[in-house]
Amino acid sequence: MEHAKHIIRAVLLLVIAATVFVLARHFAIPASFGEYGPYRSASVTEHAAREPMHGEADSCAGCHADEVDFKAEGKHAKLSCESCHAQLSVHVHNDQKVGDMPIPKPIEACGWCHEKLRARPEGFPQIVLADHVAENGETMTDSVCLECHNAHNPSE
Ligand code: HEC
Ligand code: HEC
Ligand code: HEC
Ligand code: HEC
Repeated sequence: MEHAKHIIRAVLLLVIAATVFVLARHFAIPASFGEYGPYRSASVTEHAAREPMHGEADSCAGCHADEVDFKAEGKHAKLSCESCHAQLSVHVHNDQKVGDMPIPKPIEACGWCHEKLRARPEGFPQIVLADHVAENGETMTDSVCLECHNAHNPSE
């Protein structure tokens, strides 16, 4: 009987550990976890209820038809308006203007896509911005690109 104490102690410890584990698991795991699979099923409804931030491809057309048509005629036709400006949600809600749409600094926006980088595909028009400006006889300013290119239709 002398040695049974060790076993009783070990069993007791195991029972305590198992109880703590079951309790902790109960409180730590969110209610809807495991309903359909190993994930929290309530997150699907939560995400579906969030307001979309970006518009659809034609979401500027209703109010800025001129810009949309002008852009469609040029080399920037395939760019999304939101890629240079910002997500629709900062500007429009329920078809009403609710805030200003940011206008990017041209020199920065043009550089995002056209500053020469090895990572870009070879056929893509790339320039060293400062060299290109100098070669065309201008001095660098934030909006110098717009003296010769239109942001919406750059060959104009
Ligand atoms: C390549 C980047 C780029 C894209 C793509 C772009 N914009 Fe712009 N947008 C600009 C810049 C830069 C200006 C500031 C132009 C200026 O100061 O003359 C501007 C100005 C504007 C303005 C202010 C009025 C004006 O013409 O100065 C409106 C409105 C506008 N953009 C709407 C749009 C819409 C709508 C689209 C999509 C059809 C679009 N933009 C796509 C860069 C862009
Ligand atoms: C429900 C109508 C509506 C929609 C949709 C809309 N705009 Fe506007 N936007 C306006 C109004 C109104 C103005 C202010 C008057 C103006 O310049 O025509 C404006 C102005 C702007 C300006 C100038 C800065 C400012 O906020 O005053 C830019 C840039 C612009 N819009 C870009 C966009 C882009 C890009 C989209 C699509 C992603 C878009 N807008 C969608 C109504 C709209
Ligand atoms: C989001 C990316 C993006 C931004 C920002 C952007 N461009 Fe472009 N640009 C393009 C794409 C894509 C093309 C079409 C390339 C093609 O035809 O292969 C293009 C084409 C051009 C062309 C015509 C090149 C040719 O081969 O004739 C010019 C010029 C140009 N962009 C100038 C500008 C200027 C100026 C700005 C800043 C106001 C600017 N771009 C901002 C993506 C961009
Ligand atoms: C003084 C006029 C002028 C200014 C300022 C200017 N460009 Fe140009 N750009 C041109 C001309 C002309 C061409 C066509 C001939 C050539 O490829 O150099 C051109 C061509 C381009 C091309 C196409 C290059 C290619 O390989 O096909 C891009 C992209 C471009 N410019 C972007 C810009 C950007 C970004 C800025 C501002 C940093 C800018 N440009 C400023 C006149 C100008």
